[in-house]
Amino acid sequence: MGSEWNISNMHLLNEIHSQQIQQETNLSIITNFILLGFGDLQELQVLLSLLFLGIYLIAMVGNLVIFILVVTDVHLHIPMYFFLGNLSCLEICYTSTILPRLLFSLLAGDKTISVHGCIAQYFFFGTLASAECYLLAMMSYDRYLAICKPLRYASLMNGRICLGLITGSWMSGLLSNTIITSLLLKLSFCGPSEIEHFFCDLAPMLKLSCSNTNLVELVIFILAFMDTIPPFLLTLISYVYIIINILQMKSTTSRQKAFSTCSSHLLVVTLFYGSLICVYLIPETNTLKWLHKTFSLIYTIFTPMFNPMIYSMRNKEVKVAFYRTVRKVVSVVPFP
Ligand SMILES: *[C@@H]1O[C@H](CO)[C@@H](O)[C@H](O)[C@H]1NC(C)=O
Repeated sequence: MGSEWNISNMHLLNEIHSQQIQQETNLSIITNFILLGFGDLQELQVLLSLLFLGIYLIAMVGNLVIFILVVTDVHLHIPMYFFLGNLSCLEICYTSTILPRLLFSLLAGDKTISVHGCIAQYFFFGTLASAECYLLAMMSYDRYLAICKPLRYASLMNGRICLGLITGSWMSGLLSNTIITSLLLKLSFCGPSEIEHFFCDLAPMLKLSCSNTNLVELVIFILAFMDTIPPFLLTLISYVYIIINILQMKSTTSRQKAFSTCSSHLLVVTLFYGSLICVYLIPETNTLKWLHKTFSLIYTIFTPMFNPMIYSMRNKEVKVAFYRTVRKVVSVVPFP
């Protein structure tokens, strides 16, 4: 009697279970997201399009100039400029994952993006952002060696070590974001489909998933932590040592010289990490939505625009290389 009851009970449970599965598969799976961006105000859209187009052009031209200078000018073939050239190359790709798509949606008024397109955008953005974190850390480590260990600099930072550090930066971002992306691809989304952001970031996408995201969130947290905190600490420690060292210098001129080479870098790093930390540490509430978007704009769009300016205006060697290249080009072009 008891066992019969159990069996029929099990049947019942099985039935309920299969009904549940049916219901889950019957939930309509959405294939498109809507990136809300900056709202619906028509006048604002025109203004923003012009602003972002301007920023994109400045960022592209600035970074392209540095990239070309570092590749073509043999005077700049030293680790410090290899890092700078790689950073420019990275930032050209980095802004291109976000701005063209944003401009398109502002100009065409089309805010939809396919779920897979969204995940792809995240993959490229995430990979390049992690690589940027590590590259900025390597650059501050390079400055630390140059300023605090000048006599041993040549042996501690040569072409081969530089190549290794740069490759490592690119690879760490690629590896962790390949894992994150493969997890994202397994999630299902069943609506709502609106993302209150101007690009496909992780947190807003996870919020829309109807799968169980606990494990995914844990893995993502660990990987995102490893991509940002170690390079952040490395950068911080390097600058603490650099500043201590500069303050201890006897002559004012050498103090000023050392300070001017690294202050520009410090400015870039502060902007980048400051906004990144604000976005990921400030809890997202309705009133802070605009704050969130504005800070996201800083690390996605403004740092890539300012980086080349900050470096070239503060750096004599880059300026000299620039004029040398311009003169070369001018002398080659025949004038009538
Ligand atoms: C990037 O770094 C590598 C390794 O040091 C270097 O050979 C290459 O020229 C750099 N690229 C640019 C554009 O600076």
